[in-house]
Amino acid sequence: MDLFKQAFITAITGFPQPRVSQMITADVELVDRRKQDNRTKLTFEEFSKITNEVFASKFDANKQVQVFFNFKGGTGKTSICHQTSVLMALMGFKVLAIDCDPQGHLSHSLGFDEYQDQPNLYDIIENGIPIHETIHTVYEGYDAIPANLAMTKLELCMSHKMAREMIINKLLEPLKQEYDFIFLDTNPTISILNTNALLAADMVNIICETQPYSLKGLELLVNEITSLEEELAQKIDYRIIANKYESKAIVSQEALGALRYNYPNNVMNSIIRKCEDFNISAKMKKPVFFFNSMKSAAVQDIVELSREIIGLSCIEQPKTNRKVQNAA
Ligand SMILES: Nc1ncnc2c1ncn2[C@@H]1O[C@H](COP(=O)(O)OP(=O)(O)OP(=O)(O)O)[C@@H](O)[C@H]1O
Ligand SMILES: [Mg+2]
Repeated sequence: MDLFKQAFITAITGFPQPRVSQMITADVELVDRRKQDNRTKLTFEEFSKITNEVFASKFDANKQVQVFFNFKGGTGKTSICHQTSVLMALMGFKVLAIDCDPQGHLSHSLGFDEYQDQPNLYDIIENGIPIHETIHTVYEGYDAIPANLAMTKLELCMSHKMAREMIINKLLEPLKQEYDFIFLDTNPTISILNTNALLAADMVNIICETQPYSLKGLELLVNEITSLEEELAQKIDYRIIANKYESKAIVSQEALGALRYNYPNNVMNSIIRKCEDFNISAKMKKPVFFFNSMKSAAVQDIVELSREIIGLSCIEQPKTNRKVQNAA
């Protein structure tokens, strides 16, 4: 069973510790359960029930569908989609994550067996399987539709459909009543499926590494989004999340500076630093905050980013490992 410290509620809410203790002790059932089991930590379910009281009012239908995209490979789309989506569920939101990448990396991170043939988007779109038959509950309040290699056939099948760019949009429509957030992880290509994801998105999160080559690719990507907007007469909102930032590397500092200069309205304030905990997380198939405290740069950055996604400002955490602000 995954258990979480009360201190993590303090860290993500910014509430003083006595106030968090008060919220927990106000839930008599929860206190009794913890006494019975002789434990101080909270389960995923208990934790999200408490945080829901704080964050539920932050629900915003204009931010519901979050897509993680970049046609450059390995920038961190899956990692950041995985971490933020699970943290949103831990914050008490009801989340659906959809793996749109046949490589199935998000599914793998969520513990799905890559060799097991789970029904996926292909079965929904081509074989008419009801979408609810493909949804699995991974954590309390966190559902997912996994992907596998069989999804490579999806592209051809979509190309023959009517209104082929709007298929995912139509699929998600009824689910919007059931979930606060729908997260889509995409693969690094320009495809009909990814065009669908972009058009279904309330927000496209472009994950960009802080490296010179990434900036060149970003220019092409933004041009592509602009032409898609013009062609299909639909606004696509995007923002840029700087990933793998290294405060001591001049190229990284310069790349972040260039990003902020060239896209002043689109770069998020939160920066994700390069941190080994992300690799360990992928290996362990658990988000970084399942096995690290707020001392981890990865946990600090994911908390800040998630708060920014729901429109909250960052909280000054005890900075054991932080050098980003100075360097930036
Ligand atoms: N901030 C970070 N610090 C260190 N390593 C990171 C960070 N973000 C991602 N990684 C690592 O980079 C690699 C690529 O990440 P990820 O798979 O999330 O990228 P992706 O954009 O989804 O790739 P693809 O284009 O293949 O889908 C992984 O090994 C991941 O653990
Ligand atoms: Mg990926």
